[in-house]
Amino acid sequence: MKNDSSKSEIQSVSKPNEELPALECKNVGRTFMIGKSILSSKKPLRAVDDVSLKINRGQVFAVVGESGCGKTTLARMLLGLLEPTDGAIYLDGQPISEVDSDVISQKVQPVFQDPYSSLNPRKTIESIISLPLRVHGIGTKESMLERVSELMRLVGLPNRLIHSYPNQLSGGQRQRVAIARALIMEPGIIVCDEPTSALDVSVQAHILNLLKDLKDRFNLTYIFISHDLAVVEHLADWVAVMYLGRLIEFGPATEVLRNPLHPYTQALMESVLTPDPHKGLPEITFGRGLPNPLDPPSGCSFHPRCSKIKDGCDSRLPSLLPESDRLVECHLYN
Ligand SMILES: Nc1ncnc2c1ncn2[C@@H]1O[C@H](COP(=O)(O)OP(=O)(O)O)[C@@H](O)[C@H]1O
Ligand SMILES: [Mg+2]
Repeated sequence: MKNDSSKSEIQSVSKPNEELPALECKNVGRTFMIGKSILSSKKPLRAVDDVSLKINRGQVFAVVGESGCGKTTLARMLLGLLEPTDGAIYLDGQPISEVDSDVISQKVQPVFQDPYSSLNPRKTIESIISLPLRVHGIGTKESMLERVSELMRLVGLPNRLIHSYPNQLSGGQRQRVAIARALIMEPGIIVCDEPTSALDVSVQAHILNLLKDLKDRFNLTYIFISHDLAVVEHLADWVAVMYLGRLIEFGPATEVLRNPLHPYTQALMESVLTPDPHKGLPEITFGRGLPNPLDPPSGCSFHPRCSKIKDGCDSRLPSLLPESDRLVECHLYN
């Protein structure tokens, strides 16, 4: 893909400083004001709360946690699609709020969960994949067509589908289209938000393998979001675990997955080991479901579900303390 001719066409973006993290969050938060009607007062919902992390180049940075914990909100902020209400995000060392949206989209591209809704049903595959080139005014009709064919080959789509429409494709094929569209601008960073969870189990492994191959081939940086630890296990270099908007454990993937320290990560790991991975989290460990994010528990927000609760967990917020080579936000380690 990175041949000289195509590269030269999109050279307007300055080369990133390899020393700096590809993306960095400093105390990032996002609050949504929720209210039923104009008469009832609105309540704040902290979808993402005080998240700090560095995402280094060429690595797979996984973000895991239950549905509703803030993964997609974080992803949208990393893509520059949503502004943080607190803290700041840096892209190649520059505050993302100061980076032109065209430049952001040349450097960071998304692959979303649902390939059924993320592809325009009225456009052909050629038109969908080439859209970023057209938006940025890159290339002629002929060169675009050639590039689309090249990308289709790269993601394993037969060229005969080039003039087809999304509804003529399988779920796996559609996700390949989304991946091709994400790659066409040669971004360094791809934000994958649950890229396989809408797909049949039999197709998931193919898409994961494709993402892994592409990452190795083009030295891509992935932010890989999933609610499923089993999925990230094969791919991730780093794992960040989120709970009710907060980062509660972070570290090298092998460490976090082999020896989870936070009781929440431990429970997530146990749920991976249940015979039926689609059963979700085991009730026994968790006791109750996810609390109402509009009325989060006091102290450590995990305390009502925690099997290792002790004095102070319900009143004081634990700080994210380094524990060996990782970070854990839990009073057990304070
Ligand atoms: N645009 C929005 N307006 C109001 N609330 C939102 C919005 N987007 C997300 N939320 C809320 O923020 C929380 C986190 O949502 P989300 O980031 O989608 O979580 P996840 O991707 O982990 O399932 C949820 O409680 C959700 O209802
Ligand atoms: Mg989500």
